[in-house]
Amino acid sequence: MNQNRIIDHPVLGHLENKTPVTFTFDGKTYEGYEGDTVASALLANGIRQLRVHEESGSTRGIYCNIGHCFECRMTIDQTPGVRACLTELTPEMVVESGKVQPTPFSQPEDMPQTYADFTEKHTDNKEGDPNA
Ligand code: FES
Repeated sequence: MNQNRIIDHPVLGHLENKTPVTFTFDGKTYEGYEGDTVASALLANGIRQLRVHEESGSTRGIYCNIGHCFECRMTIDQTPGVRACLTELTPEMVVESGKVQPTPFSQPEDMPQTYADFTEKHTDNKEGDPNA
């Protein structure tokens, strides 16, 4: 399992001094370490696909790893939409993917799709020239 980990780090220390943490992902048991995020524990176990896209079904995984993109949202201990890259692994945590997750932002029907749409809806300039 440790083939994807740094074994000895000048700041984080030696891996052998970390406490192992057991968790499940989609019903299968895995081991991480205290201080891991859910995302880092899964990656260390060779799991790169965290979920699928709600509409296209394409695979999704860690993207930014700093909590900005929401690509890593999973169901953790029965709470949907949790960002795996920001969630610290705890013993016996139940992590699930493959469920339809809520999109982080709702999109109103009248939201402009292009800059021309925006200028048409929000200015008196119906020709779309923002400098007019
Ligand atoms: S990977 Fe971007 S929010 Fe987690």
